[in-house]
Amino acid sequence: MKILLRNLSEIVQCHKDRGFIPLGCDTKLVSEYNAIAIENDKILSLLKDPNETGYERVIDCRHGIAVPGFIDSHTHLVFHGTREDEFEMRAKGRTYKDIGLNGGGIKKSVRMTREAGEEELFSESKKMLEKFILRGVTSIEIKSGYGLDKDTEIKQLKVIRRLKEEFRINIKATYLGAHEIPTEYKDDKDGYIKFMTDEMIPFIAKEKLSDYVDVFCEKGVYTGEEAERILEAGLKNGLKSRVHADEIEFSNGSTVAAKLKAKSVDHFNNPDIKDLQVLKKNNTVITLLPATNFFLHLKTKPPIDEMRRIGNIIAISTDFNPGSSPLFSILLSATIGMINYNLLPDELISAITINPAHSLDLSDRTGSIKEGKDADILVFDRENYKQLFYFVGDDIPKMVFSKGKIIYG
Ligand code: NIG
Ligand code: FE
Repeated sequence: MKILLRNLSEIVQCHKDRGFIPLGCDTKLVSEYNAIAIENDKILSLLKDPNETGYERVIDCRHGIAVPGFIDSHTHLVFHGTREDEFEMRAKGRTYKDIGLNGGGIKKSVRMTREAGEEELFSESKKMLEKFILRGVTSIEIKSGYGLDKDTEIKQLKVIRRLKEEFRINIKATYLGAHEIPTEYKDDKDGYIKFMTDEMIPFIAKEKLSDYVDVFCEKGVYTGEEAERILEAGLKNGLKSRVHADEIEFSNGSTVAAKLKAKSVDHFNNPDIKDLQVLKKNNTVITLLPATNFFLHLKTKPPIDEMRRIGNIIAISTDFNPGSSPLFSILLSATIGMINYNLLPDELISAITINPAHSLDLSDRTGSIKEGKDADILVFDRENYKQLFYFVGDDIPKMVFSKGKIIYG
């Protein structure tokens, strides 16, 4: 099947042969072409005012823009139950940490997710995922971490596997058993860590239920030393690392991520800036979650100026979850990043396409509009890509292509 997308006012390529675009890297994002030829699942070529014969379908994009399919590289999409009560508590002045210490937070979602059956969890997750696809997400990472015990973690990971089978988009799974300390191990954290490193991680790797291992490295959750032990077990079993690092306060998360050459270090509100150089050297992606800070009323922010000076690679994700970020819109996260972190449109567009593709080991196939890559393409009714972040709330593309097929529009 050959398709031609014609009459585009901009093709935002977001391409760099290295597979990522660091901050401060002078890259031409927009191509000089105005049409894209797709053959089967791949991008065949970029063209200027092409001859329209020889295509099974010619689509007039009416001066809209084409951008790479969005990539959300940090979500907790598989869960049961909601926590709007906590959202209201925060509006009344309570903090995320204090709510968590008093029976709410992740532990509450763990209780609810343990109660849900696999079918129920699957059909709820499917509906959630459809909302991301509607908003142009063609690759997504999904974490476990609302089970903690063996059965529920595996139930979550199986749901992610079923989503992979059901949907055309790219889905990567991450084992986040170290999201909290389960109540049954509250006086034996070491025992739970041993259970993860010696039993869960080898099992999950053997069953190919996960692509990565993640740890919530934060005061009161897992220390840097504990995070290192858990992530090392992942590496030994062929699972690369991602880290929830230093969200509320510095907890050695950035240092562990630097030491273990993590694929991604996330949140990053209070890192040790001495780690930035090593993160750059290792091409670790710093995944920013500005919407989470917004929903949690957090006043801290990542050290953007230092990151720019050093030239780190950034991604922006939704962190979609029932507690700190009940948000379906990656574009809105980017806009919040623009307002609260002073990120610029050129930085934002790479942060939701090519850079998260790199952090998910997908950048040889997707994340940019380049001949030979998968045809993961969005067409938006916009004059230029800067308007993607500017028209807030209008986040639905006209068309979503995943591997050459229209999956929305
Ligand atoms: O990334 N910080 C830890 N984990 C999630 C929040 C999960 C929850 O509150 O349910 C996050 O923000
Ligand atoms: Fe998270």
